[in-house]
Amino acid sequence: MSVYTLQNYMELPYSEPYKIKMVEIIRKSTHEERERWIREVHYNLFCLKSDQVFIDLLTDSGTGAMSDRQWAEMILGDESYAGSSSYYKIRDAIQEITGFEYFLPVHQGRAAENVLFSVLVKEGDIVPGNSHFDTTKGHIEFRKAFAVDCTIDESCNTAQDHPFKGNVDIWKLEAILKKSGDKVPFIILTLTNNCVGGQPVSMENLKEVRKLADQYNKPVLIDSARFAENAYFIKKREAGYVNKTIREIALEIFSNADFITMSCKKDAIVNMGGFIAMRDKDLMNKASVFNIMFEGYITYGGMSGRDMGAVAQGLYEGTEFEYLEARVGQVEYLGKRLMEFGIPVQQPIGGHAVFVDAKRFLPNVPKEEYKAQTLAVQLYLESGVRGVEIGTLLADRDPITRENRYPLLEFLRLAIPRRVYTNNHMDVVAVALKNVFDRREQIIKGFRIINEAPIMRHFTVELERV
Ligand code: F0G
Repeated sequence: MSVYTLQNYMELPYSEPYKIKMVEIIRKSTHEERERWIREVHYNLFCLKSDQVFIDLLTDSGTGAMSDRQWAEMILGDESYAGSSSYYKIRDAIQEITGFEYFLPVHQGRAAENVLFSVLVKEGDIVPGNSHFDTTKGHIEFRKAFAVDCTIDESCNTAQDHPFKGNVDIWKLEAILKKSGDKVPFIILTLTNNCVGGQPVSMENLKEVRKLADQYNKPVLIDSARFAENAYFIKKREAGYVNKTIREIALEIFSNADFITMSCKKDAIVNMGGFIAMRDKDLMNKASVFNIMFEGYITYGGMSGRDMGAVAQGLYEGTEFEYLEARVGQVEYLGKRLMEFGIPVQQPIGGHAVFVDAKRFLPNVPKEEYKAQTLAVQLYLESGVRGVEIGTLLADRDPITRENRYPLLEFLRLAIPRRVYTNNHMDVVAVALKNVFDRREQIIKGFRIINEAPIMRHFTVELERV
């Protein structure tokens, strides 16, 4: 009898499709040390030194571990000013994986926004889409234009299950196009939707947005920072995609866009890099002027040759199913552990991070005292784990009234770097947060601001305890 017909035959679990070749030592600290360090930086976790952090879940951006093949590309990097072989490597990878003919290399995602929006966005414009990432919104508002969030309402109820919480509400989008279509330069889709929890957008929704855009003669921009994780969710959750490869799904995603911005620091698993890709030669010519002014010549933009080589290799590795299964699987592992402890998190668990619902976690802290920031500081004090606030501090002030904007959701985001930590680290994070959760009733006071910048204040804001 074949072993495969045995009743107790167990399917092998998935595992990381790599083994570890080099490690970096990290150090635990004491509660007293952490109390001192966090006070010294005015309770702003961005201002801590990295060696004051034990497990760093501040961001998944630029913090991944490159493979040996990516490091090999670093050595092979061709640093010629124009037409380097590394440029042609990144070009081939981008063309193969996205299907776009033209592209411009830039140093990171926000640089792509800066260059592209310099061509496309002007004062008074309205840019609708699912939740804009903070730099995207920053680059829109900096140009005195408006970013309008049309994400589906389900995304705001963290306890509600929905396979594609990143989706655009087509009715909300159409209302804007009807009312102010002449002011809309393009529609933006962020894949995955970072702000609401790394939640994916379905292919069906993408196609509906495309259809509506065509009806109103508007181009579609995809912010592709986490396109591969989004493609993974489509394969796992959407009817008709289970037998398609991640790359086939990615090509179909991109076929619905006119141009894309990409922060390679996420799904291309590099420490630095980005690009803009497009179909339209005229747009390419216009954007090239800004690229040369802000970033660099069009065959390197903001990147060294070695960085372009690493991006090319990373784009291939980041779109492998087995890698994504382990990557997204680890995020889900942490999410499930937290849910076992009864900790409220955005459900289902997203692609790059677990988003802890600070409103439900800390009901006793007033929203004016920054619930999610309070939770982030508590977790750091408990364990040396650094997460990040995605809440009122990040939402910033209204550009006109200068009042605090209180978002519907207040999150502590625990973003997991790619290929960096083990599930033992995830267990430390889960237990640390459980300990904070057990004493949540006693946490009744948060923080007040003593110093803040006029835009993107969260990076440098200084706080004191209330
Ligand atoms: N778009 C999305 C969806 C992002 O998440 C980010 C960065 C950017 C654009 C900008 O890219 O950092 O390369 O300039 N997100 C990081 C984060 C910083 O922590 O979520 P960048």
